[in-house]
Amino acid sequence: MRSRVILGAAMLALAGPLALAPSLAAGPGDPIVKARQTSMKEMAAAAKTIAEMFDGRRAYEPAAFRAAAGTLSARAGPALIAEFPTGSLGAPSSAKLEIDQARPEFEALARHIGRLADALDAKAKTAPAGITADMRMTGPPMDGGSLLGKRPGAAQADPAGMPAEHLLHLILQDCSSCHSKFRQRQE
Ligand code: HEC
Repeated sequence: MRSRVILGAAMLALAGPLALAPSLAAGPGDPIVKARQTSMKEMAAAAKTIAEMFDGRRAYEPAAFRAAAGTLSARAGPALIAEFPTGSLGAPSSAKLEIDQARPEFEALARHIGRLADALDAKAKTAPAGITADMRMTGPPMDGGSLLGKRPGAAQADPAGMPAEHLLHLILQDCSSCHSKFRQRQE
């Protein structure tokens, strides 16, 4: 039960940015910024789809699970890094200028979420017709190694050995870690 509550809270935190898409899109805008904001929204929709299937708020369908996990995998990792080139940061985008001063940390986070998303994608490719017990997370989410300093010992955990639901939790943690450090809302 506890994991459902945590997942709900994590999704709530992500719902904000979805609902409050910046008005930037209305102006001429920078195509690089627009493209990455679209990618981010696609990741948010994909994460929400998977979370809702595991929460029972949406019917579980292996094909939908595969598609959503594929989106996360395609948008994270190197693709995410490529969407934040120097010169595209700062207002009116919500990407902080600090990304440039902390490239190694930003890129490590992007690669970390990329590895988790790849592991989830691999599992989704062979997902059974219904959610099985081994796809479920058994305890509270173990911090798989937030690169921002928590529980360094757990950082070596192999994502391939984790249940799909656990991977989703760790992915959501990485979304939040990066946003809290590298995103500032432009209202
Ligand atoms: C490595 C850093 C990083 C990771 C990981 C990350 N984001 Fe983001 N995200 C950002 C930054 C920076 C912005 C601001 C982009 C801008 O406005 O140019 C952003 C913006 C967003 C937005 C707002 C898009 C808009 O329309 O303005 C959403 C929604 C979002 N992210 C969802 C997610 C979700 C869901 C995940 C995890 C599956 C995630 N992000 C992972 C850095 C990250």
